[in-house]
Amino acid sequence: MSSRPPSPPFETFEQLTAVFCEHVAPNKLAYYQRMGLQLVMGKREGIWFEDAYTGLRLINCHGNGGVFGLGHCNPRVTSAVAAALGKLDIGNHHFVSAQRAQLAARLSATVDDALPRVVFGVSGGEAVDVAIKAARGATGRSKIVSVEGGYHGHTGLALAAGDAQFRDPFGPNLPDFVQVPFNDVAAMEVAIDEQTAAVILEAIPATLGMPIPAPGYFQAIRKLCDDRGARLLLDEVQTGLGRTGRWWGVQHEAVVPDAIITGKGLSGGIYPITATLLTREMHGVLDGEANPFVHISTFGGAEIGCVAAQAVLDVVGEPGFLEHVEALSERFAEAFEPLPFELRRRGLFMGLRFGSEVEALGALLRVMQQGVFCFPAGNDRCVLQFLPPLILTDDEAEDLIARMTKAFA
Ligand SMILES: Cc1ncc(COP(=O)(O)O)c(C=O)c1O
Repeated sequence: MSSRPPSPPFETFEQLTAVFCEHVAPNKLAYYQRMGLQLVMGKREGIWFEDAYTGLRLINCHGNGGVFGLGHCNPRVTSAVAAALGKLDIGNHHFVSAQRAQLAARLSATVDDALPRVVFGVSGGEAVDVAIKAARGATGRSKIVSVEGGYHGHTGLALAAGDAQFRDPFGPNLPDFVQVPFNDVAAMEVAIDEQTAAVILEAIPATLGMPIPAPGYFQAIRKLCDDRGARLLLDEVQTGLGRTGRWWGVQHEAVVPDAIITGKGLSGGIYPITATLLTREMHGVLDGEANPFVHISTFGGAEIGCVAAQAVLDVVGEPGFLEHVEALSERFAEAFEPLPFELRRRGLFMGLRFGSEVEALGALLRVMQQGVFCFPAGNDRCVLQFLPPLILTDDEAEDLIARMTKAFA
């Protein structure tokens, strides 16, 4: 495996990085080199990917925040897409589409049709923007409450709801965006008022280091929103589609939001597609009689992407799939008990919290030496985001546990 020749057109890592630095992003490369990381994704299959130049093989326990929840090049997804290629393409985003209709109905079924309308996009940020636009349109209000250190993407409204470090370089924030600490109902109580259009929350804030919501947190916020006429938007871009052992992370509490935003894993890692699930009321303004084209996206809900996404739903919806995620989660909890980190966990959405950033970075390099890839949370670098592929077999899980245990021996 390690003698695999590097992919053309660059014979060596140095040749590649010279061009990458000149034309793509020199400081990104420098950043990874400072961390001691020099990865170029080469061959990839199932739970593994390989560095293109060194041949280092890694179990992908980051998976781009869940893009590779079903592993790399999942054969169910690739064969569905391959069978459709040559017959389907992106389609026409203005027209009626059988692929979008089918996928929307299936997504809606995951919440017992409580969110029967689905708007498709190409990125998570775009899907968050849709949810915020819908809430503003439905309420006629503009204030948006979100969580400090949360992350919703880098597009307009999503950026405005996220962490200041990503928007400060680009001028003042949009008005009417307010942030409060996570897991702080009292702060929410102050922030949500009669001008509030919506509260947007991640089911578990990944970039903030995966703090698990306190029991009753979502119920309390749902009630505050209901009392004050605001909408509740759940960003499930990372936590959705089985990652936490339920279809959606919010389903760990008996709470139905007004919107669920999904992305990443919906693509099957093959074709970008995201979706915003909405109530009829929230959707009204986006498909109003006066102008049903007030929101459109050329590539959103591309028909070939819908095929990939339907294959993802086929896999996650198989009997026993979610139970397997829960069972693996319990096994990890037991096996990680003696290891030197605090485990934050819901299903296979896990964060390994160390005493310091330096310790976490050291741990990252040690687990990589054992063939495991995970990555620090952007807004709390003491935490390594640990998201094993959901398709992990029991044997693969034991192998992964043995590697992790050895890394900390
Ligand atoms: C919770 C969450 N929401 C939204 C986004 C934005 O998704 P995208 O990068 O596809 O725009 C991300 C991306 O990491 C995310 O983690």
